[in-house]
Amino acid sequence: MYEFYNVAMNDIDKSANLPRHVAIIMDGNGRWAKERGKPRIDGHIEGSKRIREVLSAASECGVKYLTLYAFSSENWNRPKEEVDALMELLKNTIREHSEDFIKNKVRFRTIGNVGKLPSNCVELLEKLKEQTKNFDSATLILALNYGSRDEICRAVKNIIQDAAGKKIDPEKIDWPVISSYLDTDAIPDPDLMIRTSGEMRLSNYLMMQAAYAELYFTKTYWPDFGRDEFIKAVKEYQRRERRYGLTTDQLKK
Ligand code: IPE
Ligand code: IPE
Ligand code: MG
Repeated sequence: MYEFYNVAMNDIDKSANLPRHVAIIMDGNGRWAKERGKPRIDGHIEGSKRIREVLSAASECGVKYLTLYAFSSENWNRPKEEVDALMELLKNTIREHSEDFIKNKVRFRTIGNVGKLPSNCVELLEKLKEQTKNFDSATLILALNYGSRDEICRAVKNIIQDAAGKKIDPEKIDWPVISSYLDTDAIPDPDLMIRTSGEMRLSNYLMMQAAYAELYFTKTYWPDFGRDEFIKAVKEYQRRERRYGLTTDQLKK
């Protein structure tokens, strides 16, 4: 009986209503470690191992874009040892995953003010972006030094400069124009936003892009979030009705 239930749980109906873009707030690494009497960084290390598993689950479900919140613009305010360890882990993770990305033809992108990361991180990130830029089977986007408010500030500065330089007409600024100045330019909006660890907030993540995203919260800490949890979230998404301001009757027409 249990086995039968498990099989059914793991079965994704690929014929209907799949999210094209899933964004995840990978939260709970610190608490995962604390509950085991380990240092916080051990939680981050264990969490980084879930990236490969979740990317593979996403591709199994036919998800084309996966955006992972790895370091927020506010996370610089954590203790220096933790920030330094996270930067070290970022380098190791990129090194370890590079071959996989190339082998599986996954395009790698980042969002966030990546230029402010340590220069050896920037080099690795830019190299992998360059190596994978023409792949289109799937896109993995890491949000690094990302915060929606910082993203908007940078976009507004660029819009004002381009308007002053007559590259754009202020009268014609609409949402597509503004969105082309965001870090997510040419990436479709997230359909499904997942946050692990039981927190129910967006913490400055993709605030405008997620305007119509379906939100999914799970108590599971990120280091325990694997393939089955991902599939469970996608199945929940498939049950939702996205109305975009319309009525259910209008959607049926
Ligand atoms: C998420 O886990 C990873 C980062 C923010 C870098 P946390 O480190 O926030 O884990 P908790 O929330 O303290 O458990
Ligand atoms: C959001 O998690 C950032 C990342 C997952 C990288 P935080 O743990 O930093 O968010 P808050 O502080 O709980 O809102
Ligand atoms: Mg947290």
